[in-house]
Amino acid sequence: MANMATIYQLSLLVMSCCIQAGRGGSCPTLDCRFTWEKPGEGLKHESCLLHVRASAKSQSEEELAEPSSSSDVAPDRVYHVTDGSSTLCLPSLHPPRGSLIKPKCDLHHFPPQPADVQWAASLTDSALSPAHLQADWLSAAIVSLDGGLALSTVSRAATATSQSNVVLSVLSKTVSVRTRLGDAVLIDCQFWMDPLSPLSASGFAVEWRYQFRGKGHVVLAYDGKMDRLADAQQEGATLDFASLHATGNASLILQEAKAHDSGTYICAVHLPYLLAQVAVELEVVEPPSLSISPSPLPLAVPGQVLSVQCSASGFVPLPLELSWEFRSVDGATKALGEGSLSGHRVAWDGTYTQSSWLELDTSALGRGGELVCVAHHEGRTRRSRVALEVIGFSTPTIEDSMAMVGVALVLYGVIKLAFWNIAERPMSRKGVRRYGNTSANQRFFSCFPNV
Ligand SMILES: *[C@@H]1O[C@H](CO)[C@@H](O)[C@H](O)[C@H]1NC(C)=O
Repeated sequence: MANMATIYQLSLLVMSCCIQAGRGGSCPTLDCRFTWEKPGEGLKHESCLLHVRASAKSQSEEELAEPSSSSDVAPDRVYHVTDGSSTLCLPSLHPPRGSLIKPKCDLHHFPPQPADVQWAASLTDSALSPAHLQADWLSAAIVSLDGGLALSTVSRAATATSQSNVVLSVLSKTVSVRTRLGDAVLIDCQFWMDPLSPLSASGFAVEWRYQFRGKGHVVLAYDGKMDRLADAQQEGATLDFASLHATGNASLILQEAKAHDSGTYICAVHLPYLLAQVAVELEVVEPPSLSISPSPLPLAVPGQVLSVQCSASGFVPLPLELSWEFRSVDGATKALGEGSLSGHRVAWDGTYTQSSWLELDTSALGRGGELVCVAHHEGRTRRSRVALEVIGFSTPTIEDSMAMVGVALVLYGVIKLAFWNIAERPMSRKGVRRYGNTSANQRFFSCFPNV
C-alpha cells in the first residue's frame, strides 16, 4: 500500500482527463436547497447557491463567475466549492437554460465521525490530527434525472470561510438500471478523493447495500486499506479490484440477475471520518412465457363451448395483463376479453405465474381461425396462438350436397343389404322354419332359432 499516493495521483489524472478534458475554470452555478435541523423545530430548508470551480488554479475566473446572485438567496447561503474531480461540472448537472427538469441538489452540514461499520474501522485506527477535522464540512447530494446521474460530495472549508474543497466525491452515471433475468449486471459507481487531503492517504472502504421495501442487507463490503472483503458477501456479487484501486471504479458486478435482485443499491465510500453515497435502482424485468392448453385444440362443432387455458410463467415484476383474441380466417381480429384470471403464484426462482381460463363459445366464430392469448407486461406484449377449427359450419356447397346424397344412398344400400342377409340366412341354413307372412320383427328373431 506504499504506492497509494501514486495511485491516487493517477486516479486524479484519469478522472480529470475523462470527465473534464482541459476545462479548468468555473462551471454554471447550481441551485440547491440547504437543509438543517433546528432544535425543537425539526428540519428546515432554505434556498442556496453552489458556485463550482473545477480546479484551484484559476482564482481570477472566480470573480468573473461571481453571482448574478438571485435575490431570494441569503448571502450566507452562497457556497463556493472547488472540485478537483470536476464531477460537479458534468454537463448533465447543468441543463440548458429553460430546461424544465433541473437537477435536484441538497446541501447540509456534514459532521465528520469514525465509521461505525467494521470494514471501515481500520481507516481510523491511527488517530489523525483532529485539527484537520475542525472545519466546516459540507455535503452535497445531486441527482439529475434526465442525465441519469447521481452525485454525492463531501467538501471542507476552513472554519468561517465560504470557500471549500471537495475531498470525496461519489458518482453513478446510471441511477436506474434495467436487466433481463440471468444477465450479468454492472451497477455503476465511481469515486474520487482529493490526493492533497491528509484523509485520502489513509485508505478507503467501499460498501454496497441493498434495500427493498424497508428490508436490506450488505451486498458486499471491502476494506481498501487492509485489502479485505467482509464475510457478509452476496453470492455472485463482486468488484473489479484492480480498477477500484487504479481509478476509483467501485462498480458492482452481479454475475447473474435474479428476480429478487430488484431494488435499491447504495454505493457508499468511506474515507477516515467521511462518508459519501449514491443510490441506484435496479429492475429485473422478464416478460412471460405463454402456453395454451389444450394444444392443438380439438375440432369443434358450431355452438360447442371449449375450455381453454393460457398460462403465463417466468415473469417479473407484477403486474401482468392477460387477454384473448380471435383472428378469423380472413384476418379480422375480435377481442374476447380477459377470461377468468387466476391469482399470481410465486415460483421457486421468485418469478411469477398466472393463468386465464376462457370458455370459448364457437357459435359466432365461423369456420374458425386462430385463438390468441395476449400478455401485456412492462411495455412489452407477447402472444401465443393456437389454430381453431370449427367443422360442419355454414350451408353446404353443391359438391358437399352431392357427396352427402351419395353417402346417404350408399348407407341405405348397405343397411338394406344387411337386413336382407339377416332375414334370409336362417332359411338357407336350416330350411326348416317357414313362415308365410312373417313380419320384419319375426324375421329378425328368426336369426336366433332357440328364442
Ligand atoms: C468499471 O469496471 C467495470 C468492470 O471491470 C467496467 O466494466 C466498467 O467499464 C468500469 N467503468 C469505468 C467508468 O471505468
